[in-house]
Amino acid sequence: MLEYIKNLPKAELHLHIEGTLEPELMFKLAKKNGIEIPYKNINELKKAYNFSNLQDFLDIYYAGTRVLITKQDFYDLAWAYVEKCVENNIVHTEIFFDPQSHTKRGIDFKTIILGINEALNDAYKKHNITSKIILCFLRHLSEEDAFVVLEEALKYRDLIVGIGLDSSEIGNPPSKFKNVFKKAKDLGFKLVAHAGEEAGESYIYEALDILKVDRIDHGVQCFNSKELMKRLKIEQIPLTVCPNSNIELKVFDCYENHNIKKLLDYGLNVTINSDDPAYFKGYLNENFFNAYKHLNLSKEDIKKLITNSFKASFIDDSLKNHYLNLIK
Ligand code: ADE
Ligand code: ZN
Repeated sequence: MLEYIKNLPKAELHLHIEGTLEPELMFKLAKKNGIEIPYKNINELKKAYNFSNLQDFLDIYYAGTRVLITKQDFYDLAWAYVEKCVENNIVHTEIFFDPQSHTKRGIDFKTIILGINEALNDAYKKHNITSKIILCFLRHLSEEDAFVVLEEALKYRDLIVGIGLDSSEIGNPPSKFKNVFKKAKDLGFKLVAHAGEEAGESYIYEALDILKVDRIDHGVQCFNSKELMKRLKIEQIPLTVCPNSNIELKVFDCYENHNIKKLLDYGLNVTINSDDPAYFKGYLNENFFNAYKHLNLSKEDIKKLITNSFKASFIDDSLKNHYLNLIK
């Protein structure tokens, strides 16, 4: 079964490029750029990857981004992920980036987007891997700040397929970003938002009804509401679920209690993704392996999850059909 999972071509729809920064590259870039890391070595850093909740993780994740300075650094970060795509047989990926975590440190938007984009272009040239870029607003910052980033993004409109919302969820509901999402929609961007990762179902309702998103990132808290479950099933709203992340951030106390199999069996449009794989013990295949091992996923379940990912992606129908035929 592990070979079966490995060999299937897969799509990934929920992946923060900053969350692919492996400790080795972090130390290398820190040395090159003269940035101090508050850990003596890689082992000490890895020991700090022991999180009680989302905020615990975000504090370390944002600290890690400080080593990224030049366009080449962003290229190297994205290229390292492309190599993981090859290993994991990910043939299409839609990656998030958090420009505000860099522009707040004085890095130009241009440096970030061009570095990432160049690596993704090379991914297509060398490995035939297709990709899209989604810009995420940091929800702990203001809507005004998000408007500034959106304005900046318009200079690179062709490189960015969609707008997302991430960072500290509780206390920063989707409704806080109502106006900027409305503008992004009018500009023709696809829309996604993290909702129902830690916070309750009202955040998922807001993402759907106020932000009008095309997909929900995480969304696992929907399980607490029969009414919402029914709606997600009828409307077939894609949920980009990240099992390893949910375990590492204690959204579920153990893998056996993760609800992805129940969501799938109920008929929801769920997908499997890796979120921040450098921090959450493994890339996409590891997420599938764990879900399979602990939740008794069948071959049909795996195929359904992968099919859902391609169908929920932001690629055009002919490429979608090409990928769906590969799985058949
Ligand atoms: N940024 C990176 N990973 C995230 C997650 N799992 N939730 C919210 N914001 C994030
Ligand atoms: Zn995420």
